[in-house]
Amino acid sequence: MKILITGGAGFIGSHTADALLAQGHQVRVLDILQQPVHRGGEKPAYLDPEIEFMIGDVRDEAALLAAMRGVDAVYHLAAFQDYLPEFSRFFSTNVTSTALIYELIVREKLPIQKVIVASSQACLGEGLYLDANGTRVLPGLRRDDDLRAGTWAIQPTGTQVGPLQYQPTDETVANPMNCYGTSKIAEENVALNLGRMYDIPSVAMRYSIVQGPRQSLYNAYSGACRIFSLSFHVGRAPVIYEDGNQVRDFVNYLDVVDANLKVLEDDRANYEMFNVGGDKAITVGEFAQTVGQVFGHNDFEPKASGKYRFGDTRHILSDVTKLKALGWKPTRSTYDSVTAYRNWMETAAPAEDILEQSDKMMAALGVVRAVDG
Ligand SMILES: NC(=O)c1ccc[n+]([C@@H]2O[C@H](COP(=O)([O-])OP(=O)(O)OC[C@H]3O[C@@H](n4cnc5c(N)ncnc54)[C@H](O)[C@@H]3O)[C@@H](O)[C@H]2O)c1
Repeated sequence: MKILITGGAGFIGSHTADALLAQGHQVRVLDILQQPVHRGGEKPAYLDPEIEFMIGDVRDEAALLAAMRGVDAVYHLAAFQDYLPEFSRFFSTNVTSTALIYELIVREKLPIQKVIVASSQACLGEGLYLDANGTRVLPGLRRDDDLRAGTWAIQPTGTQVGPLQYQPTDETVANPMNCYGTSKIAEENVALNLGRMYDIPSVAMRYSIVQGPRQSLYNAYSGACRIFSLSFHVGRAPVIYEDGNQVRDFVNYLDVVDANLKVLEDDRANYEMFNVGGDKAITVGEFAQTVGQVFGHNDFEPKASGKYRFGDTRHILSDVTKLKALGWKPTRSTYDSVTAYRNWMETAAPAEDILEQSDKMMAALGVVRAVDG
């Protein structure tokens, strides 16, 4: 097959491209080489020379049409995803571009057999909880007053009876807390609804936090793996927000690539959305210790910094039963992810202090806040 990957110069896209090439497919990439993901707007050296590379914006109709002509399938991975206050850009980059893909397929009668869009765990927001009576709760954003007081757990409201307990959350939940998550819900809906309406097999992939080499060193917000690794790399203890007991289900990049290939090949995936997570609850503190081990700091003990990021989810664990039913399962550990990241970072890390720059940006945006007293 000839396959287009939008955003294919990035982290997940470039690894997906490598795997598709290894299977004998032809790969074309459309990418704007967005900053700060790509420092200096340069084409990354890791891109396989076999890839047909087109520079262009997915919002640009002419560029997108040129990239879509002659391909059999599309992975739509290009996205705006940092924690920046350009609210409208989440929608123009992530949603309008998705609608444009379908508009062009329908209008130009392009013989595209499948469209796979990158969605996100951010669609789940705080995920599913049960209260003490077993009643389902979909919590909203935690209140800043609670966070300032160091109350990290989700608090019951109305008739809910505490304590509330987080649950593995499946694909039926849609409760985004920010513009990124809201844009991803819209992106999924646009793809699956237009797909069904025009018989264009379509799939939405809700990735959890993906870890591995090539994840940009420069995004201010994303990536505990990046931030903790850079901290150990420059000899600093990583900053742990809240109490370090937040639960995540980090997923290895190769498990994500396996999932991407699986849904391309398997028609049972058509018109469905799938959580793609690590299937294992791990706390941020435990994860920091894993990073410490990879960097030779076996005795590292995470300590709360007295800071928090307003808008972060407390716990999130995606239920991946649906994708496992297709025969996929995550097989790599967080230790594997961090080791691969470290090996890559040590060839790619620049001399300047990236952490200091991103800390300054987060402070300027008012995202990182301190508890009272
Ligand atoms: N990495 C994660 O942990 C994660 C988690 C959930 C969802 N996702 C989603 O997966 C997809 C890929 O993420 P990633 O981590 O590889 O990101 P990335 O930033 O490494 O790659 C995205 C690529 O898209 C390109 N791009 C951005 N705007 C563009 C535009 N307007 N036109 C053309 N290209 C553009 C960028 O230059 C970049 O190369 C995204 O849709 C993202 O929202 C990622």
